[in-house]
Amino acid sequence: KNLLGIIMNLIAPSMLACDFGKLLSEIDLVNKSKADWFHIDVMDGVFVPNISFGSPIMKVLQNNAKKPLDVHLMIVDPEKYTRKFYEMGADILTVHLEACKHLHRTIQEIKSLNMKAGVAINPHTPISALTSIINEVDLVCLMSVNPGFGGQSFIENTYDKLSRLKDLIKKTKSNTLIEIDGGVTSKNASKLTELGADVLVAGSYIFKSKNPSYTINNLSSIVN
Ligand code: DX5
Ligand code: ZN
Repeated sequence: KNLLGIIMNLIAPSMLACDFGKLLSEIDLVNKSKADWFHIDVMDGVFVPNISFGSPIMKVLQNNAKKPLDVHLMIVDPEKYTRKFYEMGADILTVHLEACKHLHRTIQEIKSLNMKAGVAINPHTPISALTSIINEVDLVCLMSVNPGFGGQSFIENTYDKLSRLKDLIKKTKSNTLIEIDGGVTSKNASKLTELGADVLVAGSYIFKSKNPSYTINNLSSIVN
């Protein structure tokens, strides 16, 4: 909710798709746009078949980003790194349900470090797997592609999962935000918000476009 009590839908550009050769100006572009969060994809080459980046890039973001850092950990044993990401400025820390042996404990640890706690689920993981954790998490990240790479196409089954998740949230009276991650474009954005998504992550659609700030602002106006 903003100051007027109006519920806003949020846009979180995924920095994975930006040009790391000009990282500072890419960060600046997001700072000056209508984007709400920075989405930061950390991959370890074990949980997912790709390695992205870690602390050095995270610290550049910490020092230059002027909006909340939404960190998506696609790594095994994420509980080993919760404090480290807190120290590097994460505001929202999301771990994968499939990567946590003790998800409940990891979520409590993230919250005890004063970060918002998120749980991400892969396309094959059913919404029912969230039943016993939904009241504990601040955000659920529904993967709408298989994690590991940017630029993949949106998996249509996500709409059905989104509706089920919205029902679960209503039924349990939890105030969890729903984030959709992967293959988001202006084509699916409005349907996703209509079905109850609160945060849309977009990487290639933004950074591979001719005018990334225009694309961010356009996405924001579509969903608000
Ligand atoms: C995928 C990442 C996504 C990805 C989104 O593993 O979690 O955040 O960067 O990129 P696009 O929007 O290009 O699908
Ligand atoms: Zn992500």
